[in-house]
Amino acid sequence: MIKTAIHPRYGLKLEGIDLAQVSAEIGYPQIRPAFEQHSLLYFPNQELNDAAHLKLGALFGPREDRSLSPDKPLPQVSMVSNRKQGDSLYKKGDSRLLDLQANMLWHTDSTFLPIPALANILLARVIPCSGTSSEFVSTRAAWEDMPAELKDKARDRYLIHDYAFSRRKIDPKLAEQHKFTHWGQQIWKSIWTNPENGKEALYIASHACAVVGMGQVEGLKLIDELINWCTQEQYIYKHHWKDGDVLIWDERAMLHRGVPWNYEQERSLSSICISATTKDGLEEMRYPHR
Ligand SMILES: [Fe+2]
Repeated sequence: MIKTAIHPRYGLKLEGIDLAQVSAEIGYPQIRPAFEQHSLLYFPNQELNDAAHLKLGALFGPREDRSLSPDKPLPQVSMVSNRKQGDSLYKKGDSRLLDLQANMLWHTDSTFLPIPALANILLARVIPCSGTSSEFVSTRAAWEDMPAELKDKARDRYLIHDYAFSRRKIDPKLAEQHKFTHWGQQIWKSIWTNPENGKEALYIASHACAVVGMGQVEGLKLIDELINWCTQEQYIYKHHWKDGDVLIWDERAMLHRGVPWNYEQERSLSSICISATTKDGLEEMRYPHR
């Protein structure tokens, strides 16, 4: 396995490994510690069908299920795509494209769910010839460098997360859709401490709509200030997608966002989110309801 840094502060490219062959005994014992340490792993030239994608995900933990009712199960692997069923592409103004646009706000996946995500395993299926990219920052590196004054404001805080809040920033009508209002609000601690190595990272997202114990204006000002700090140029890694690329990132220590592409061309990425569990530090993140 050849390992190369992809950013001075985080991220690792791993070559010479076939993710379809990885199991609990082979490969995973090296991949998991790299995930804990580097937060973002890049595996080029992979060939994973949905079954292999799911098998890889299962090594990290339970697959996230966002289905809104037991009678309407969602596909096990979700497609992040501008292609409709069949061959046509979504057009400007369509709610699916607006949703993809909301993914272009700096976010962490699934902070609005009752069980947030540990990881996303994202795989390039169809890449437009005009190119497409995604951007990442490490909230661990940004937290480490944060000025003490701002750090003090954020430490020992709890943030309220709401899916509809981030969608409302793009389109108020989009935010009214059931899939964005269904989960209500969740409260998570502002800092996620990695139980393996004790490293702290700011836990924040475009879904963060308030800070417990702070007024609305003051809370949103702090959230903006924190996101602005973390998303400075020096923390950004921009990934230019190629066919067969797989990225796995630690949702506890990263923010990411989509970048606009030419919507006249198909771009399809397949994604599996893995839910965080007790051993990933989930219980320490909960609001202590008294
Ligand atoms: Fe995302």
